[in-house]
Amino acid sequence: MKVDVLLGLQWGDEGKGKIVDVLTPQYDIIARFQGGPNAGHTLQIEGDKHVLHTIPSGIFHPEKVNIIGNGVIADPYILSQELAKLVAKGVNPRVNLLISKRAHLILPTHRMLDAAYEQAMGAGKIGSTLKGIGPCYTDKTARYGIRFGDILAPDFREKYDKLKQRHLSILASYDFDHNIQLIDKVRFSDYEQHWFDAIEELRTFPLIDSELYINRALAEGKSVLAEGAQGSLLDVDFGSYPYVTSSNTITAGVCSGLGIPPSAIGKVYGVFKAYCTRVGSGPFPTELNDETGEWLRDNGKEFGSTTGRPRRCGWLDLPALRYAIMLNGVTDLVMMKADVMNDFDSINICTGYEVSGKTVQDLTYETLSNPVNPIYESLPGWEQSLNGIVDYNQLPAKLKQYTDFIEKDAGLPVKILSTGPGREETIRR
Ligand code: GDP
Ligand code: IMO
Ligand code: MG
Repeated sequence: MKVDVLLGLQWGDEGKGKIVDVLTPQYDIIARFQGGPNAGHTLQIEGDKHVLHTIPSGIFHPEKVNIIGNGVIADPYILSQELAKLVAKGVNPRVNLLISKRAHLILPTHRMLDAAYEQAMGAGKIGSTLKGIGPCYTDKTARYGIRFGDILAPDFREKYDKLKQRHLSILASYDFDHNIQLIDKVRFSDYEQHWFDAIEELRTFPLIDSELYINRALAEGKSVLAEGAQGSLLDVDFGSYPYVTSSNTITAGVCSGLGIPPSAIGKVYGVFKAYCTRVGSGPFPTELNDETGEWLRDNGKEFGSTTGRPRRCGWLDLPALRYAIMLNGVTDLVMMKADVMNDFDSINICTGYEVSGKTVQDLTYETLSNPVNPIYESLPGWEQSLNGIVDYNQLPAKLKQYTDFIEKDAGLPVKILSTGPGREETIRR
């Protein structure tokens, strides 16, 4: 069998978690391949909202295996809090959660470094989630990192102390205010204690060679869904650098993030919102700094699932979507949140950019580095609720027109259309 992939085509928060949960019954294994607790994946099950940060979004299906892959980085304390929340809701992750021994650990000092770097950058800051993502991936690449497999070794504490000292010496050269020493408003020493308590708990979870597990499962005919975090425009190579995250969020990241060959990739579900959002700094050509943008934010409840920050909102950007489709080899499009625009009488859609008087159809290095003027086409709104619609044919004609427009531009079908946060508010074609 193949590994199907589900990932975001924009700047994250497209609604990946919801769709992974909806698709999970079709798969044997759900595996996260990159990112860490910078992610916030929301599932709404029977009216109850759950936000997952590190744990794959298939966890609510006890008969399905969920894997935190080697490409993921995890903060043990955040992970243990996530586990506790699941247990409180009657889910027992001990029966179906496996963790790669090769996944790296986010240390409390990675979080302090993240905060110190951001503070030092002032107005030019990335707008990171302050979860220690950049510093942890930096240590991974620089070969200083500590992995889940290390927590089983007798010299784990030594390794921890050595890396912590390294971080403290870097921090000493930064002029930051004392708030940096608070992590999620918790004093460093307390956070560190929670972190070690979490390590004790995680020692009792199955820590595995997930690349062997997954490849064997594929050979036995099992199916795998790889769950992406963040979005393609936050990819460290192809996103709006430097305003990106520190991992490869695109399909290519699945191979290195799970240890599977490119030939094992099957379908690629590309998830996008019917409009765009972005949280944090960086270019956003179709951003709306007006009432329409505010309407999208309020109506779409566009506030970060991880940090609670208001998300920047704007119109759908087709050059950016085409670029993401190209990078990922998307086979199936998944459109989310069209319902948020139910009341609009007309909807803009960006088809190209004007750069220095010239029209450009592609998202390029230049269009992501310079101010551009989006070129819009205006389509009529459907001005009707989508409540209760379960069949594509019953959708308002003007919403189908909007979808057709995107499909023609993308050269791909929209296979799934989401009309609300709930599992049941999903139309499949
Ligand atoms: P993810 O990070 O890609 O999993 O997305 P987030 O969970 O951060 O953000 C998506 C938000 O939109 C969550 O609050 C979801 O509950 C919500 N959502 C998902 N699909 C829909 C939809 O079709 N319509 C509406 N109105 N909300 C949705
Ligand atoms: P999900 O998986 C939206 C953004 C941050 C910041 C930049 C770098 O829920 O879609 P980082 O903490 O990774 O160093 O931050 O990336 N960012 C996200 N934005 N959704 C996410 O995840 C994000 N993860 C990181 O806001 O701009
Ligand atoms: Mg999110």
